[in-house]
Amino acid sequence: APVATPDISSCGKPDLGLPPNANLLTCCPPPSNALPVDFSPPDASTPLRTRPAAHSVGADYVAKLNRAMAAMKALPAEDPRSFAAQASIHCAYCNGSYGVEGFPGSDLQVHNSWLFLPFHRCYLYFFERILGSLIGDPSFAMPFWNWDAPGGMRMPAMYVDPKSPLFDPRRDARHAPPELINLDYNGREPTFTDRQQVDHNLRVMYRQMVSLSPTPSLFFGGAYRAGDEPDQGPGPMENIPHGPVHIWCGDPNQPAGEDMGNFYSAGRDPLFYAHHGNIDRMWSVWKGLDPRRHRDLTDPDWLDSSFLFYDETPKLVRIRVRDVLDTDRLRYRFQDVPMPWTTARP
Ligand code: C2O
Repeated sequence: APVATPDISSCGKPDLGLPPNANLLTCCPPPSNALPVDFSPPDASTPLRTRPAAHSVGADYVAKLNRAMAAMKALPAEDPRSFAAQASIHCAYCNGSYGVEGFPGSDLQVHNSWLFLPFHRCYLYFFERILGSLIGDPSFAMPFWNWDAPGGMRMPAMYVDPKSPLFDPRRDARHAPPELINLDYNGREPTFTDRQQVDHNLRVMYRQMVSLSPTPSLFFGGAYRAGDEPDQGPGPMENIPHGPVHIWCGDPNQPAGEDMGNFYSAGRDPLFYAHHGNIDRMWSVWKGLDPRRHRDLTDPDWLDSSFLFYDETPKLVRIRVRDVLDTDRLRYRFQDVPMPWTTARP
């Protein structure tokens, strides 16, 4: 059977993989006194949002994103649209604040399984709608951190300005720009020259997205059905570069790699949403690489898995994996950018 999130009022104490000294007030989104409504896609006349590469945007866009983030951060934590509440969503779905509907005692964990891509797509989708509504711009699109292309292999500039609401002090100071990211970072600093690092990253991308991801079941990760133990195995792209980018950003001097380097705290860094913007893009990119064979899964247990989110109104919505397979239907796209890794066969 598909994994379904139980009612939001059942969100409780996190007990999955939480570090002992976690600096945590809550690991649950605010409660709702209304029952969730089923998601219905935006109608086809909704403006199309085009998500830009974070390193390519101009000053106007940066100002707009700053305004939207500042507004989100200014909302009180009890408001489900607030940044604090949005950040707690990640903790709730990753650290066992929920059980799986119908399976008391089971812990819901969306990572390391086939729920990874769809869960984060839904998460970003509502986050983006909230940001847009806070600045009255229904076409507002969030940026993606284009770490798979040479021009994007640094922390994007707008996130590292300490005066910006996009900044987070809990990051690895050694990895501020102009340091190049290492897409298979494992905690040890590589000794590459810049050219070697770029080349290495392109090969890592090819390996994870092409060589290791020939079929849907390999690409999406382990099947995770209601009642299964969590951690059925990540897909190659969830494993690398998704994980290493988190670790590379988090502050090694914090007790548990906060913020980006730990599930419970990752959503507190605005950079998280740009990182996942690119993860979300990789799903679309993978499908485009070989449209005949790179298809979404067809297993009904995957398609009917569902999650709970607040939309921008804010109302509680139950959304299923099958609702989010087509980004055109969700009314967003990604800026078209060069992908030199597609020919970087190792
Ligand atoms: Cu929910 Cu990048 O992790």
